[in-house]
Amino acid sequence: MEKFSITTAIDYVNGEPHIGHAYEKIFTDVIFRHFKKRSEKSFFLTGTDEHGIKIQKTAKTLNITPKELCDKNANSFIEAWKLLDINYSHFIRTTDDYHEKTVQDIFEKLLEKGDIYKHKYTGLYCSGCECFLAEKDLDEEGNCPIHGKKPEVVSEENYFFKLTKYKDKIINHIKNNPNFIQPSYRAQEVLNQLENIEDISVSRAKTNVEWGIEVKSDPSQVIYVWIDALSNYITGLGYKVNSESEENYKEFWPVNYHIIGKDILKFHSIYWIAILMALDLELPKSIYAHGWIMIDKNKMSKSTGNVISPKSVMEAFNLEKPDALRYFMVTAAVNGKDGNYSDDDFKEKVNADLANNMGNLLNRTLNMLVKYFDGEIKAEFINNELINETKETIDSVLKYFDEMEPALAANKIIELVDSANKFVNDKAPWALAKNGDMVECGKTLYSILNLMAKVAILIEPYCPNIASDMAKQLKIDVNMKYSEIEDLMVKEGKLITKEEIHPVFLRLDSEIMGDKKKQN
Ligand code: ME8
Ligand code: MG
Repeated sequence: MEKFSITTAIDYVNGEPHIGHAYEKIFTDVIFRHFKKRSEKSFFLTGTDEHGIKIQKTAKTLNITPKELCDKNANSFIEAWKLLDINYSHFIRTTDDYHEKTVQDIFEKLLEKGDIYKHKYTGLYCSGCECFLAEKDLDEEGNCPIHGKKPEVVSEENYFFKLTKYKDKIINHIKNNPNFIQPSYRAQEVLNQLENIEDISVSRAKTNVEWGIEVKSDPSQVIYVWIDALSNYITGLGYKVNSESEENYKEFWPVNYHIIGKDILKFHSIYWIAILMALDLELPKSIYAHGWIMIDKNKMSKSTGNVISPKSVMEAFNLEKPDALRYFMVTAAVNGKDGNYSDDDFKEKVNADLANNMGNLLNRTLNMLVKYFDGEIKAEFINNELINETKETIDSVLKYFDEMEPALAANKIIELVDSANKFVNDKAPWALAKNGDMVECGKTLYSILNLMAKVAILIEPYCPNIASDMAKQLKIDVNMKYSEIEDLMVKEGKLITKEEIHPVFLRLDSEIMGDKKKQN
């Protein structure tokens, strides 16, 4: 693969990052780090969505300006992603000048083209969704089904985008490209929504919404926040309307994946696609909608008071590195379904997989190497045992990532470690050493270490710090490409000393956790 590019949704900055936002960024980062090992060039775009009535209202309640709110919270997102080792290539804020300018140019271009027109309209606006809702979308009490609040009646003269003009073209594109919307079961949902689409309002009167990008040719209006936000996917790569676009745009658009939550699939697979069609630009190769992260099986919400931040989890468990949380989050859901976070599940899963299974095996094996051979790998130890199992695992991991199933790929990696644990118990190198069968003992240890070298590379997208710690002890390069992994062999000679051996992951301590949790 020559190139790989991926984006996340850009988060609203009316609050702090929570574990649901974190899930999406971790999921995307794991996919990105995996494909980075399979491609020459790669790009990962993320950022924050900073305009709209929701931000304006939150700032007002806090008695600060919208920009102050944005600066404060955008920073919290940036900090959180740093804490989680999210390895993005560029972070876009929709209040960045270059973005605002290009969005204005996009709007003017669509006006000139006749795809945007003025129209007087009365509708029901949900500020939580930042969109108009139809009567039929509301629940029995007349509330937005997602936000549980009554939408506001808005009567304005706005600009409208001719969405209906692109309806058939979008339907055809979805039908002709079975991988366009993933998981594929979501495509039908979009096709159903397309049946009833109407033209959409793409601006708001400034008298009602101040916090937005002005329409260049009509400063009494601001551009609809979703048009502004969706455009980040190309402005963030340096797309320009009236001059030459930047290298990153030429190189990385269209992206391989837009990763988003299932709640905003309509905006991406209908509105965004229509805008790209109107601009005569290429379409993203795929849109992948993930499910929701629940907390103890409940929906996370401010009113329930169960909103958890990634930082609070790390603090509660005394974690300096995000590997365990990353691993748990990514493995919490398959096939775009909802996942669940609970402290108990988290602890149990990472203790079992990362500490008892993976970490322990490496630690035991290295200690035996030091004990029996002074940490040295002799030429006669080198062998190809377990190579087939390892090769099968590598193939499955690649296949599962092609199918956007990092959770299933992780299971395969852990199964490989399981089989290595079984192998070492069956072979009992300690017994071999006791009987003086030193070559057989050395061969056994070597087989495990060689397998663990591959595990280190495979686990890196999930657990970059643990992986580099493993790699350091095995004297291998954790960043090698997957094309080289099958030929990877731990080298002959002195590998490690007693002092250099250290556990790559410690079990989470439930006692400490209990106390700390209360402080958050
Ligand atoms: O929708 N579990 O922003 P947002 C999993 N600004 N994912 C979750 C989640 C949860 N509990 N809660 C939210 C927006 N998300 C727009 C996007 S893109 C051009 C503009 C996901 O802050 C959600 O599905 O409400 C979305 O993909 C992302 O977090 C940002 O949500
Ligand atoms: Mg949302």
